[in-house]
Amino acid sequence: MTEATFIPKSYKNTLDHGSVSFKAPSNIALVKYWGKYGEQLPKNASISFTLSNCFTKTQLSFQKKEIQEFDFEVYLDGKREEGFEPKILKFFERVEVYLPFLKTYSFKIETSNSFPHSSGIASSASGMSALACCLVEMEKRMSKNLSTALEETKQKASFLARLGSGSACRSIEGDLIVWGAHEHIEGSSNLFGIKYPYVVHDNFKNYQDTILLVDKGEKQVSSTVGHNLMHEHPFAAQRFKQANDNLSKLIPILENGRLSEFIKIVEQEALSLHAMMLTSEPGFILMKPNTLEIINRIWTFRKETNSNVCFTLDAGANVHVLYPEGEKVSVLNFIKTELKPFCKNGEFIVDMTGSGAVPL
Ligand code: PMV
Repeated sequence: MTEATFIPKSYKNTLDHGSVSFKAPSNIALVKYWGKYGEQLPKNASISFTLSNCFTKTQLSFQKKEIQEFDFEVYLDGKREEGFEPKILKFFERVEVYLPFLKTYSFKIETSNSFPHSSGIASSASGMSALACCLVEMEKRMSKNLSTALEETKQKASFLARLGSGSACRSIEGDLIVWGAHEHIEGSSNLFGIKYPYVVHDNFKNYQDTILLVDKGEKQVSSTVGHNLMHEHPFAAQRFKQANDNLSKLIPILENGRLSEFIKIVEQEALSLHAMMLTSEPGFILMKPNTLEIINRIWTFRKETNSNVCFTLDAGANVHVLYPEGEKVSVLNFIKTELKPFCKNGEFIVDMTGSGAVPL
């Protein structure tokens, strides 16, 4: 399959005006994507859990118009958010070839997140996923074949979301999603995310993710800059190999449910991601002292209690505390008593794996 698969031939119906709405989740990577080439193509395969309580809701209203140029406004929580518009314009320019109707409508994009804007949780994955789902739904209404196969619809939404923000392509479906061609994962592609196609042990059902909000400020280094620093990175080739090898190692672990092995890989991935940041030229540090404090406390708790709790990190200071559903009571208790003091204003978000984007 190539990019050309996603270029539509013609539309049967014209829509004059209307609106579509979607709710799309955030996701947390177990094997990380960090480094890209071409148009948002990943240098290695990644896998993530789709989340349940961290999501974006987007309503896309459209009105047919004469003048052929991009025309849209973005609203966050009911207020015009011009700061988001350059990113959306770039997205529209990138996807226009796959959605040739874009310049023939005025759009109003109204969006809101379930998590606070200043939480340090990136809204780009859920936001781009929700917008891509809206656009694909709109296209579906214009298409000859109104009953476009669900699989095709999801693939196109993931393909488009990827062009907005790489990891957003893993936010269309749940709960375990692979993005990036991987020799041991059938159907995997650099173009879009797919549902993990193999057996998953019950230990990973409803896996818990409590997100500790360590630093709620703007990131000092954006992920676009971070990805670009992988181009000349001295350890890049080794890192891409490590990620693909870790994904290979996860396949039997996801099947047999061995949590101790799962933890080793997940934590190595988080630390490796940040090691890439530390050793970039110039280097940068997104972790904060409290990030390290929390990691050390998780390690001590695990040693002392034989818990299967572990952590992962995004491109930021927040800590995602991952644990099986069966340990919910004990780990939440540990978080409340020992980790909460290291969160900004004592804030954390209790989340778990979820099932993907849905129309509203
Ligand atoms: O989707 P981007 O370009 O914001 O990159 C996200 C990269 C990480 O969140 C750090 C890792 C990942 O695989 O989600």
